[in-house]
Amino acid sequence: MDTARLVINPDFTVGPVRRRTFGSFVEHLGRCVYTGLHEPDHPTADEDGFRTDVLDLVKELGVSTVRYPGGNFVSGYRWEDGVGPVDDRPQRLDLAWHSMEPNTFGTDEFMAWAAKAGVEPMMAVNLGTRGVAEALDLLEYCNVPAGSHWAEQRRMNAAADPYRVTMWCLGNEMDGPWQIGHKTAQEYGRIATETARAMRMIDPDLELVACGSSSRSMPTFGEWERTVLTEAWDHVDMISAHAYYWEKEAGLQEFLVSAEDMDRFINQVAATADTVAAARKSDKMIGISFDEWNVWYQDRTPSKPPTGDDWPVAPRLLEDNYSVADAVVVGNLMISLLRHTDRVWSASQAQLVNVIAPIMAEPGGPTWKQTIFHPFALTSAHARGDVLRVVIDGPTIDSSEFGTVQAIDAVATWEDDEGTVFLVNRHETDTITVSIEVPAGCRLGEALTLHHDDPRWQASVEDDTTVAPRPNDSATLDGQTLTIDLPPISWSMTRLAR
Ligand code: AHR
Repeated sequence: MDTARLVINPDFTVGPVRRRTFGSFVEHLGRCVYTGLHEPDHPTADEDGFRTDVLDLVKELGVSTVRYPGGNFVSGYRWEDGVGPVDDRPQRLDLAWHSMEPNTFGTDEFMAWAAKAGVEPMMAVNLGTRGVAEALDLLEYCNVPAGSHWAEQRRMNAAADPYRVTMWCLGNEMDGPWQIGHKTAQEYGRIATETARAMRMIDPDLELVACGSSSRSMPTFGEWERTVLTEAWDHVDMISAHAYYWEKEAGLQEFLVSAEDMDRFINQVAATADTVAAARKSDKMIGISFDEWNVWYQDRTPSKPPTGDDWPVAPRLLEDNYSVADAVVVGNLMISLLRHTDRVWSASQAQLVNVIAPIMAEPGGPTWKQTIFHPFALTSAHARGDVLRVVIDGPTIDSSEFGTVQAIDAVATWEDDEGTVFLVNRHETDTITVSIEVPAGCRLGEALTLHHDDPRWQASVEDDTTVAPRPNDSATLDGQTLTIDLPPISWSMTRLAR
């Protein structure tokens, strides 16, 4: 059997584990909000119409922040439609997803839901069909305590105290030709700058995120970041990155190493931001908000919005059913995000419920967990303290896109006398033994592995437990050497204590 070696040393830190790495995303899209978060007639609905079965799973998932309300949706959204008496709210066409938006859930409902879920809200403003004035109105509604028009409207509608939202996205995917109000980098750089400058006049302490590229494969990738950051440098804190992965014609093995793309994406955005810093002779560091990432089979039927005269409310859209292989890729993407904790300051898995989501909620029925739920929940629960630099030497995979890459990928975190190692075996066929040199005096805690002999096994409403992480009995600790066998296409976690 092949062996991979790695060393865990609590002295070699990359940076702190950031709770914001475990963010998620709620968009007005398909059944994410309606019959996902909000279903007043559901047997588990609370006094606000929120599904408490979903709230329980959101807590179990360990989500830290939730980005809202889009996504492509935000670029046509009039936020005022979603506040005030529900019966007075207009229905609107949602052009992004060819759906009817009832507006029975809006900013106040989201803030109430976020408080119950115990998550930090991250808001996005519409820089597609709207601009500086409407962004300022929404900020005033959310963050100004009292006295002004919109602050008083909020007090009258829903909340005496301001929501004090810190993180704001300046639009969404403005580099994409599909985006309502799509812009060139120069155009977007200008409006992002002016919006940010004005928003800081209300609240100088906001953390503002400029739109970066919708993927590393965008033709404008790199030049977009350079142009936008050159313009907006003094006014923003982070630049966004979005990436979705799915199995393409190149096959399963190639899909399994998707995190190589995320690594390169992060490194290249950071390098571009640092190039702008150098040109400006600035010591400022721009962080990355990886505020959309996941596996998403974009070319399959569930992702096709309705057409023609059909504008349904909350249709089934993007309800991808995830396999074991998808869960391994998701676990690996989380390893990549953690490994870059010095540069990735915030991240949001897209999305939270029903829409390319770890949590599924049947209308009027039960909830169930997708395979991708497990690596997210366990990483969020056990990544603590500092992220450690881990070097891996072991069997390799020849990737047509990324060249020769390690079959095992891993990251470790350490807090006080406790550590956790997160691992994936990305090899399609081979079990690999991993030998980890750990600090002296460690005891082995739990060792869990997510695997199935059929990597295409998918959870369903009938069975979401056949593939759950199980104890990996091969794990042993002999002195300072931890040994564990990782089956092909698997995600694992081992815990240590001194
Ligand atoms: O998450 C689904 C969509 O993906 C979002 O609306 C958009 O921002 C991205 O293209």
